[in-house]
Amino acid sequence: MIKIDLSGKIALVTGASGELGRVIATVLAQGGADVAIHYFRNRERADRLALEIKKLDRRACVVSADLGEAASVRSMQKEVEKELGAPDIIVNNAVSQYVWKPVLEQAIEDYESQFQTCVLQNVLMTQTFVPAMIRKKWGRVIAINTECAMQNFPTQSAYVAGKRGMDGILRVLAREIGPHGITVNQVAPGWTISERDRLNGTEQQPDYDKNVPLRRRGEDIEIAHAVAFLASDLASFITGTYLPVCGGNIMPTI
Ligand SMILES: NC(=O)c1ccc[n+]([C@@H]2O[C@H](COP(=O)([O-])OP(=O)(O)OC[C@H]3O[C@@H](n4cnc5c(N)ncnc54)[C@H](OP(=O)(O)O)[C@@H]3O)[C@@H](O)[C@H]2O)c1
Repeated sequence: MIKIDLSGKIALVTGASGELGRVIATVLAQGGADVAIHYFRNRERADRLALEIKKLDRRACVVSADLGEAASVRSMQKEVEKELGAPDIIVNNAVSQYVWKPVLEQAIEDYESQFQTCVLQNVLMTQTFVPAMIRKKWGRVIAINTECAMQNFPTQSAYVAGKRGMDGILRVLAREIGPHGITVNQVAPGWTISERDRLNGTEQQPDYDKNVPLRRRGEDIEIAHAVAFLASDLASFITGTYLPVCGGNIMPTI
């Protein structure tokens, strides 16, 4: 039987206090990885997740950082290495909150914060954590993008700018660090059902669902499964990809 086996691996998931990050961290732990749980302001959710992961008999630690600040990311690295060791897998998932506005009205601060959490996060996480992967000759850089990066719909400009910016960095990075046995991939969710929707009963969005070839929104666990696959040896020859997990709502051309 083929199975995803991440035992012996250490994963760091940024934004693991958030909706998708929490499920990604849990699924990586279910696959056998020890997990560092990054949060920004919501320590309580991170602590709760750490308890759940420890119940799976995996090691877990909780760390905080502003991912747009080099010093903050470096101090997170020290904590993770002290608690668990150097990560083999990083999942760059965090994103700052976004206000949907037309370009004519979008605040400059929104462009800056998307640049920080999309572009700079990926640069700083790479510069901080990839050197140890190079030493181990094995590593996984997985970043969470979005279907919006291909849709370019009104009010998405700052978000799309950040996500397209990180896409450029990650494609270059895949070429640069591939020779060291490290893969670099992006997972691009559609508008995804998470715990918040389940609590609010907002899973179905008919105006959105009707245009999706699979006629529904994806579930958080379906995003997490794609991440776990890319983290595993089953995806050993996949790098530089942008993998939509959106029921076919976008289809990158070849
Ligand atoms: N949800 C969707 O439908 C969807 C669709 C497409 C793509 N995505 C992508 O999936 C990823 C996760 O989305 P989500 O919906 O799960 O987001 P979310 O629930 O809003 O969580 C965002 C996470 O990022 C952290 N964060 C915010 N600002 C930060 C900063 N300046 N520095 C460091 N961390 C920061 C938050 O930490 P605290 O809460 O601890 O402050 C939180 O853990 C994002 O990259 C998003 O673009 C999501």
